Amino acid sequence: MTTSGATRVASSISYVNLGSSRLRTIESLDLADRTVLIRADLNVPLVNGEVADDFRIASSLPTIRAVLDQSYRVIVASHLGRPHGHDETLSLRPVASVLGSLGGFDTVLAPGVIGEAVERIISDTEHGTVVVLENTRFEPGETSNDPRVAQGLARLADVFVGDAFGTAHRAHASNVGVAILLPSAAGKLLIDEVAAFERLTVGADRPFVVVVGGAKVSDKLKVIERLLPKVDLMLVGGAMCFTFLRAAGYSIGASLVEESMIGSVAKLLESEFGDRIVLPLDIVAADSFSADAESEIVASSQIRSDSIGLDIGPMTIERFADVIVDAASVFWNGPMGVFEWEPFRAGTAAIARAVAESDGYTVVGGGDSVAAIRALGVWGDISHVSSGGGAGLAVLEGQTLPGIEVLRT
Ligand code: 3PG
Repeated sequence: MTTSGATRVASSISYVNLGSSRLRTIESLDLADRTVLIRADLNVPLVNGEVADDFRIASSLPTIRAVLDQSYRVIVASHLGRPHGHDETLSLRPVASVLGSLGGFDTVLAPGVIGEAVERIISDTEHGTVVVLENTRFEPGETSNDPRVAQGLARLADVFVGDAFGTAHRAHASNVGVAILLPSAAGKLLIDEVAAFERLTVGADRPFVVVVGGAKVSDKLKVIERLLPKVDLMLVGGAMCFTFLRAAGYSIGASLVEESMIGSVAKLLESEFGDRIVLPLDIVAADSFSADAESEIVASSQIRSDSIGLDIGPMTIERFADVIVDAASVFWNGPMGVFEWEPFRAGTAAIARAVAESDGYTVVGGGDSVAAIRALGVWGDISHVSSGGGAGLAVLEGQTLPGIEVLRT
């Protein structure tokens, strides 16, 4: 939808050089009088129909505000959850309302993603009001990057801005298909995210310490394999440490283990870089998997056969924290224990504090780690809090992310 004649070509070209990535910036686009479609990642948790965590919404605001200032009209698109077709419980309505109140502008929710009714709402919307499209995944063909959806989206705007870093590992119609059809550039959030991960992958300052946790080794094995030769130390906590301890020959009682990963983990431990992996010295072991379980601190070599490890112990906390505080670069993804249960929160909380205390360049990603940073109020002490869990890991794995590729020069 062109607001003042045919689509203009960019009047000047601007790029941002980020190591291996040269991305077009919004300064490369002529936004005056234009309708701009911004693909953000507003995929936030909802509880009882309300936004439970507005981090991704707040992170999208700098780009939306900058584009709003320079253009005629702004349309924001995002997915929410993984609906199969239209699902009212995954409507973007609550997200649009939080976006408006955080951003200090009016929002209007379109009745769909593409089509005449959506086009009508957009042309009736004046400068200053942001049109939020319905959940892009309500549209069949979004996730298969169907050209019909991409073309329908391209009809809505003159220009496209890709800012959905959290979705950059997906090649969907709303972040890749439409970007090819319109003059397009990367938004501020996406550029900040790429810059942060580039800084870690291309010559991070040493000592470089990576802290991984969470339940599954299988989610992070590739990242661990790729980063291990580049780091000084890789600290492993969370439920995944039990697969490592098992692979190292310890008995881990009834703790969670990924049997299918033991072989790969054993190879890592025996590899030339295996001695960079630091495993917990002690564990908070519980008699059941519950918030009110009886628990004790035991050496990681002495977990009883009926005990379940639910957090790292105090000696481990001290060892990990010392290393983190002295590091020049730190990347942390994944909780050290069952953070949502108070008795098993200490490990994750201590790591969050240590990362915040470190004078090095610190990047935190992943829902639970970010939640811990927020709960402890140490957000401002972290160099970069990432809005992308899976996308951040995919960058660190060395994958080419389609949502970023399409915005390169
Ligand atoms: C995420 O939350 O990781 C992104 O929004 C991508 O969501 P998806 O895994 O459902 O594609």
